[in-house]
Amino acid sequence: MCGIIGIVGMAPVTARLVATLKRLEYRGYDSAGVAVVLPEGIERRRSVGKIVSLEDKLQEEPLIGFTGIGHTRWATHGEASERNAHPHTAEGVAIVHNGIIENYAELKTELRSQGYEFHTETDSETVAVLISTFLKQGDDPKVAVSKALKRFTGAYALSMIFEGYTDMMIGARQGSPLVIGVGKDEMFLGSDALAIAPFTNQVIYLEEGDWCILSRTGYEIFDMNDQPAERPVQTVETEDSVADKGNYPHFMLKEIFEQPKALTRTLKAYTHPARGTVSLPKSGEEELDFSTVSSLYLISCGTAHYATRVAEYWFEQLAGIPCKTDIASEFRYRRPALAPNSAAIFVSQSGETADTLAALRYCKEQGVKTIAIVNVPTSTIAREADIVLPTLAGPEIGVASTKAFTAQLLSLLASAIHAGHTRGVITEEAFADYNKSVFSIIDLVDETLDLDRQIYSVCELIAEADDVFYLGRGVHYPLALEGALKLKEISYIHAEGFGAGELKHGPIALITDKTPIVFIAPTDELFEKSLSNLQEVAARKGPVLLLSDRKGVDLAGNVPTASLEIPACNPIVAPFVYAVVLQLIAYHTAVMRGTDVDQPRNLAKSVTVE
Ligand code: G6P
Repeated sequence: MCGIIGIVGMAPVTARLVATLKRLEYRGYDSAGVAVVLPEGIERRRSVGKIVSLEDKLQEEPLIGFTGIGHTRWATHGEASERNAHPHTAEGVAIVHNGIIENYAELKTELRSQGYEFHTETDSETVAVLISTFLKQGDDPKVAVSKALKRFTGAYALSMIFEGYTDMMIGARQGSPLVIGVGKDEMFLGSDALAIAPFTNQVIYLEEGDWCILSRTGYEIFDMNDQPAERPVQTVETEDSVADKGNYPHFMLKEIFEQPKALTRTLKAYTHPARGTVSLPKSGEEELDFSTVSSLYLISCGTAHYATRVAEYWFEQLAGIPCKTDIASEFRYRRPALAPNSAAIFVSQSGETADTLAALRYCKEQGVKTIAIVNVPTSTIAREADIVLPTLAGPEIGVASTKAFTAQLLSLLASAIHAGHTRGVITEEAFADYNKSVFSIIDLVDETLDLDRQIYSVCELIAEADDVFYLGRGVHYPLALEGALKLKEISYIHAEGFGAGELKHGPIALITDKTPIVFIAPTDELFEKSLSNLQEVAARKGPVLLLSDRKGVDLAGNVPTASLEIPACNPIVAPFVYAVVLQLIAYHTAVMRGTDVDQPRNLAKSVTVE
């Protein structure tokens, strides 16, 4: 989603603003722009499409200023066009904004009636215009911003510069994250720590309602009541290699191949240091005690939701805890009745997804214990949850989630095994067995990655299709949903996942010789059932790509069109193996179709608006 960078610098900032916008490309965007404050006023350059067209524009008309703001926009209100791109200006001020000003329509009407003009269809422009009205009345920027902030409802992260103030930038946050970077005689504002990582590792996370005034050499922070506020400066470690694809053509492929490393790091955190068995990492002072939990809510969005759908089977089967999974955007408005002594797990790579955060706040209000499984330990969801269980996948840049997904699965599986053990649902013998399986995951994933060339060779079948169906049973049903999501996200091929047992109740009507079916059928207790469903598809001439560890599957004379022999493993860890295969299928298919794999159209990495 939109990205923000602001620099109050000691040297010209445009090149650094643009370099940062490039680093923020992964969040998803459709236009970009920068503005600087010069002694003679504010100047800006904006362009639609990729950052390179902004660079071309800056080449033709350079901008040289020491204080500036930059933005990548993911369109919400108003089409993706240069006119709607940020920064937005009004007399005396330029702003960049993430989030949605929900009362923008009424503010626009009010300001228009006072004679002010608007030049865009965006909600964000109202911020610039409203501040400008106060500046015109004689308020200085600090007073103007403080008055304006009280008028906005909705979500905002804002970075603002002012005519006549070459050593000042004001930031504000409500609902959307914003961090201050403390540099040496330079100050920064960023939509996340990654934005400012090359400049400084000293960051301050603004809290809800906070706003701040930066100069080159200092900062002041105020809370929502305009009272001076102290916020800790934190040292953030970010991997240097983040913005680097290494020898890989895409971040997504790099991240798929990083899974053994990501899983090793995550598993280490879920291993008891003395006993060497699966356990939960310590989360501050709070202990997570599953033995008293009556039921579990698992809430998330997108790929994280499919991780929870797999985990639902694990928590019920291994720990005997009744579970309910939900997509956060539904959960938050359904006003669900929550069972006494229940707990809620929120799974999020970014830790900033607006709907997941709102669902967490709802549960907290209801007195339900909240547990966050997040990949960004400093994120808002991590900071607001009672208990944090980390995934240690490292920064994920490709929009399509891969290594974060398997790390989420690992955190959830370890939690389910731990819960089953502490609740006395699994025997010591079974516990030892599950431990063995969990510790085999990394080798299994390595072995699966070795199938890359073979996986590539079957993707033509998928790449030529208009519609593809994914079928699976048990834990492989949510995996089928995730496989279909991965394919549609990056290849734009229409793909759907179904529980194979549900085939006869509708989806079978869609099967023709033109609709490839990716069938996930590992040897497990449901294998024979899956085989029957496979027969039904084959009998209707659906081209089948069979993913199974079983060799020589006979379909009553109908052989699968293609098959991949997947490493055999204990069914409990099979989702890790099949997830990797599904990721590589989506990746190679998308490359064959020539799409923008790392930044697929219309999608955003971090969805900070609802
Ligand atoms: C977006 C991303 C998905 C991600 C989802 C949830 O839609 O494109 O890859 O699964 O948000 O994000 P989260 O950060 O909460 O896991």
